[in-house]
Amino acid sequence: MPTVQVTIDGRVVSVPSGATVLEAAQVAGIRIPALCAHPHLKPIGACRVCLVEIEKQRQLQPSCTFPVYEGMVVHTNSPQVREARRFVLELLLSDHPLDCMTCDAGGNCELQDLAYEYGIKESRFAGNRHRYEIEDANPFIVRDLDKCVLCRRCVRACDEINGVEAITLAFRGYDTRVGTALDVPLTETTCEFCGMCIEVCPTGSLLPKAATGLGRAWEMTKTSTICPYCGVGCTVDLNVKDDRIVKVTSNWEGAANHGWMCVKGHFGWDFVEHEERLTTPLIRKEGVLVEATWDEALDLVADRFVAIAEEHGPDALAFLSSAKCTNEENYLLQKMSRGLFGTNNVDHCARL
Ligand code: SF4
Ligand code: SF4
Ligand code: SF4
Ligand code: FES
Repeated sequence: MPTVQVTIDGRVVSVPSGATVLEAAQVAGIRIPALCAHPHLKPIGACRVCLVEIEKQRQLQPSCTFPVYEGMVVHTNSPQVREARRFVLELLLSDHPLDCMTCDAGGNCELQDLAYEYGIKESRFAGNRHRYEIEDANPFIVRDLDKCVLCRRCVRACDEINGVEAITLAFRGYDTRVGTALDVPLTETTCEFCGMCIEVCPTGSLLPKAATGLGRAWEMTKTSTICPYCGVGCTVDLNVKDDRIVKVTSNWEGAANHGWMCVKGHFGWDFVEHEERLTTPLIRKEGVLVEATWDEALDLVADRFVAIAEEHGPDALAFLSSAKCTNEENYLLQKMSRGLFGTNNVDHCARL
C-alpha cells in the first residue's frame, strides 16, 4: 500500500495513503481528543472536538475525517486548537444537566473527562436547555437525551454493525435528537436490545437499566470471560462489585466478537443470582425430586446408561450435546458415545 510522510507536532511518520490525521497521530503516539469518533465505527466529523491546525489550510480541520497527504504538517495542541476545543466543549456543556455527582456514567464519561482536561467548570453560553423525558419503558436501556451530545455513535452502531437501524437522528436544528421512526418507544421498533448503543455512547445518555445506582466505574473490577449462551464464544467483561455482577460490558479485544454482543450476552446475567437457580443436583425418589451430591447423581446416570445399553443394546442410547459446552466437552461427549458405548446416536443442539 502506498504511504505518505506527515509531520505531527514535530514527529515525522509514514502512514498509509488514505489514513486520517487522527489515525496518523495515533501512529505517531500523539493523542488527539475526540468524541464522535470511535475506533469501531466509520468517522463522520460531527462533534468538532478533534480539530487540528494543518499548515496551509485556512481553517482548523476535524482530524477524524481529514485525510493525510504527502508533506502535511499538523499541530494538534496549539493555542488556537485548544481554544477551539474549549469553545466546542462549552457549547456542548451549555445544554447539559451536569449532574455528574449522581450520574451513573460518572467516572466513565468521555464528556466529563474532556471537561476535566480542558478545565471547564461552567459554560459562558446561556440559552435554552432541553428537558426530555427519560425513556425507560423497556427492561434494558435507560435513554436520557438531555445528556446526549448528538455524536451519532449509537445510530452508527445500530446501523453499521447490527444492521438494525432502529434509531436515527430526527428533527432539525435545536430540536435534533436521536429518535425512532414515528417517534415510538424502542419496544415498538425493530430494536433487538443488543445494548451496543450503550457501549459506544460516550456519555450517560444511554445506560443499562438493571445497573442503575448499583455502582460507579471505579468501584467495579472487570473480569473477562466467555458468554455462556451459545457456541459463538463471545468475550465479555463482567463488571463486579461486592462479588455481584453489576453489568456486562464490551471487551473490544474479543477474538470472536470484537466487542459486539447480543441481548443475551449483554443483559441475560440475572440467572447467576436467581433464587430459583439450581445449585445442587436433584434425583427423583418415589416421585419427588430430592437434593443429591454430584457423586450420587453421576453414579446414578452412569449406572442407568450401562443398564440400558446391556439390556437393549447401545443404539437404545442417544447423546445430545449443547452449544453452551466448550469444543473440548463436545468432543468428549461424542467420544463417550462412539468409543465407550458404541453408538453413533450423537447430535448437537445447534443442528436441531
Ligand atoms: S453524562 Fe457525563 S458529563 Fe453528563 S452528567 Fe453524566 S457524567 Fe456528567
Ligand atoms: S439496543 Fe441494539 S438494536 Fe436497539 S437501538 Fe441499541 S444498537 Fe440498535
Ligand atoms: S445517545 Fe449517546 S451515542 Fe447516541 S448520539 Fe447521544 S451521546 Fe451519542
Ligand atoms: S471526533 Fe472528529 S469531529 Fe468528532
